[in-house]
Amino acid sequence: MNRHVAVLMGGLSAEREVSLVSGENCAAALEEQGYRVTRVDVGRDLPAVLAKLKPDVAFNALHGRIGEDGRVQGVLDLMGIPYTHSGVLASALAMDKPMAMRLFRSAGLVCPEGFEIEFEDLQDGPPPMEPPFVVKPAAEGSSVDVVIAMKGDIADLVGREDIAPDTRFLVERYVPGHELTCAVLGEEALTVTEIRPKKKGSFYDYRAKYTEGVAEHIVPAPLPRPVIDKVCDWALRAHWVLGCRGISRADFRYDPSKGMDGLVLLEVNTQPGMTPMSLVPEQAKHRGISFGELVVRLIERARCDR
Ligand SMILES: Nc1ncnc2c1ncn2[C@@H]1O[C@H](COP(=O)(O)OP(=O)(O)O)[C@@H](O)[C@H]1O
Ligand SMILES: [Mg+2]
Repeated sequence: MNRHVAVLMGGLSAEREVSLVSGENCAAALEEQGYRVTRVDVGRDLPAVLAKLKPDVAFNALHGRIGEDGRVQGVLDLMGIPYTHSGVLASALAMDKPMAMRLFRSAGLVCPEGFEIEFEDLQDGPPPMEPPFVVKPAAEGSSVDVVIAMKGDIADLVGREDIAPDTRFLVERYVPGHELTCAVLGEEALTVTEIRPKKKGSFYDYRAKYTEGVAEHIVPAPLPRPVIDKVCDWALRAHWVLGCRGISRADFRYDPSKGMDGLVLLEVNTQPGMTPMSLVPEQAKHRGISFGELVVRLIERARCDR
């Protein structure tokens, strides 16, 4: 009998819409590969839904809070359902950017200079840093609420009433130059993509990530071999230091004016986008791995921690 896969998608985070697209894309590919697929839009009733479905394996296509931060992984461990991507610990570590950075730094990787701050202190205090700087939530993805303050203006962000006072943010020195990303599949770095927003002065924001034609992806990145090798090496080390499984994708900035010292690691995504526009499928394709093969490889690596 065909293996029954529950594709977990949607969910409760700010990245819900993206996850629905990732999930549908993966579900269709899995069906094409001969799996029996049930699409599950994840809510707080997930344990009851899974108890009824009794899938052989869960394909985790969630992004952001709950689905990417170890909580859904914990439910699956408890229920004994093998799942794709990282386990509880790696997921929780990667989702918390300040915590992940502590580990990256201790492994000799360079992250942007910066510090953690609570939203109310950002609201009440003096400008957090000399511009240009970046302010971003400590635990979100998809560039949600990321502010690039080239001239130090964060008035729109601090004026927001929908953000809880104790929400943790990161303030980071703005790193100029190239935007790079590198996926690690299994134990191998796939390739390096350079992302160039088409509009000058814009950054890789939510719209650029999910609107066709707003950002250009160059695969492989047109940079000197030693830089590419360094990005691949750091992506592998970052994947390893957090204990990621299956696949991860590390985001970088590279400032060529600093030569080989210009590379800075921003974050690791344990549930990278799997939409038709996403970076991981594109890198896999560049390496001769079709989308169907990619989802099968992830299913083959599915497990739970007992
Ligand atoms: N320190 C920084 N310097 C320059 N650009 C940054 C910096 N931090 C974030 N960015 C920009 O914001 C985007 C999103 O930031 P990132 O740390 O990858 O968080 P997430 O993707 O989880 O929202 C990056 O892809 C980059 O374009
Ligand atoms: Mg990112």
